Amino acid sequence: MKQKQTAERVPRHIAIIMDGNGRWAKKRLLPRNAGHRAGMKRMISLSEAVFDRGVQICTLFALSTENLSRPQEELKGLFSLFREYFAKNVDTLIEKNILLKVIGDLTLLPADVSEMIRAGEERTKGGARGTLVLAIGYGGRQDILAAVNEAVRRGKEVSEAEFSAMLSTKELPEPDLLIRTGKEVRISNFLLWQSAYTELYFTDTLFPDFSDGELDKALAAFAERERRYGKL
Ligand code: IPE
Ligand code: IPE
Ligand code: MG
Repeated sequence: MKQKQTAERVPRHIAIIMDGNGRWAKKRLLPRNAGHRAGMKRMISLSEAVFDRGVQICTLFALSTENLSRPQEELKGLFSLFREYFAKNVDTLIEKNILLKVIGDLTLLPADVSEMIRAGEERTKGGARGTLVLAIGYGGRQDILAAVNEAVRRGKEVSEAEFSAMLSTKELPEPDLLIRTGKEVRISNFLLWQSAYTELYFTDTLFPDFSDGELDKALAAFAERERRYGKL
């Protein structure tokens, strides 16, 4: 019943800025990396929940270009978590028929992590039920700048469509809904070009606490939005 009413109103592509792990840990007097571990656990279950609700593409902001300037200890913990994620979860993605794609500058990551990422993408490439995009070492400006430089190299002016096709998100439709957890009301250099007409949804809930019920609340809010794209 519910499914029928909202069938056309489920976002095809949902993007999530997974923020608030550090504060989640702080509240519990735990080290920040314990917050990242809790966030990763939630990320795994959330990425199943979104596809169960009919979303086709889910892009998760896991690490920004700017996050790479955090203290070494935190980065070490984050890279270990990525290693663990790719070692344990690629089989599950294959089982669930999900294609994994990573956007971001992998040269900024330890070589073994970037190898695990490429291997994970390769192994899941038959996934047809949905696409899980992880943004790791990603920055919206850097994405745009790389495309600008590519256009300059080609030596001729480009259209919007041609420019979009030069971004790291080339084969993906633009996000319909962008959720940011963790109280901040900003984009923090996520999908800048791609979210020109994306519906935005902000919640105070810290990412490890962002439940399936809260996801449903965001989806319900999206279903009520009227998208006009500047028209009447
Ligand atoms: C988001 O959580 C995850 C990453 C940026 C890696 P934060 O680490 O930014 O958590 P807060 O904002 O400090 O709570
Ligand atoms: C945005 O969170 C990046 C990710 C969630 C990966 P930040 O915690 O880095 O954002 P700012 O610093 O509050 O803008
Ligand atoms: Mg943060």
